Amino acid sequence: MPEFFKFDQIEYHMGAAGRTVKVSSDLEEGSILVIKGPSGAGKTTLLRILARLLECDKGQVFLQGQNWLSFTPQLWRSKINYLAQKPAVFNGTVLDNLKKPFALKIKKDMFNLDEAIDGLRELSLNENLIHQDARTLSGGETARITLLRPILFKPNILLLDEPFASLDDNSARSVMEFLKRWLENETGRGIVMVTHNDIYKDISGIKIQELELSEPGVN
Ligand SMILES: Nc1ncnc2c1ncn2[C@@H]1O[C@H](COP(=O)(O)OP(=O)(O)OP(=O)(O)O)[C@@H](O)[C@H]1O
Ligand SMILES: [Mg+2]
Repeated sequence: MPEFFKFDQIEYHMGAAGRTVKVSSDLEEGSILVIKGPSGAGKTTLLRILARLLECDKGQVFLQGQNWLSFTPQLWRSKINYLAQKPAVFNGTVLDNLKKPFALKIKKDMFNLDEAIDGLRELSLNENLIHQDARTLSGGETARITLLRPILFKPNILLLDEPFASLDDNSARSVMEFLKRWLENETGRGIVMVTHNDIYKDISGIKIQELELSEPGVN
């Protein structure tokens, strides 16, 4: 059996000082890799590289044994889906926002309204929100809607950049439980998550690994 998701000696430069980060890690199916480290350590940059939104200097990534370069970037990003630290909210309703990724040719017309409504309920959101102007949502509602958007796209790997940043403790715990159910509901899923919130430590029954991006050039 090939490893589920693996990045091998990924190397990249950052910032004006041009320092280099080198990282390797792997993720078992059904588990979470938590990326930690101080501000500016390169956590967001790493997630964007894994999603093929940025290029790295060296290194390779494998999904179920297949090299990332054997996928088109678009196909890769449908399997490895990145949720930004400050996700974009588009003009229009919540429904328009949830449908947005399905404009891509690769999953054209595969949006399922029932799944979207189930997702809202599972995230403790009122289903009537679906017709609300997305720009009028509260910070916590926006965080949950923008999390639901890649979930509906059914990726193998979710790359989450600070998903708890605008949530209170109770909402963060319920989002973490939602993510646990998401991992368990189907095979072939995993999460790579950048977070300063230790809420994931309270959730039992999921394998969690930590990767610390600390000193320049280490890892
Ligand atoms: N496009 C860019 N051009 C120049 N420098 C950049 C670019 N993107 C990021 N950097 C720099 O690279 C460094 C790492 O940025 P990154 O966003 O990956 O950090 P981070 O670990 O996610 O930090 P935070 O915890 O604050 O989100 C920072 O010093 C940042 O200013
Ligand atoms: Mg960041």
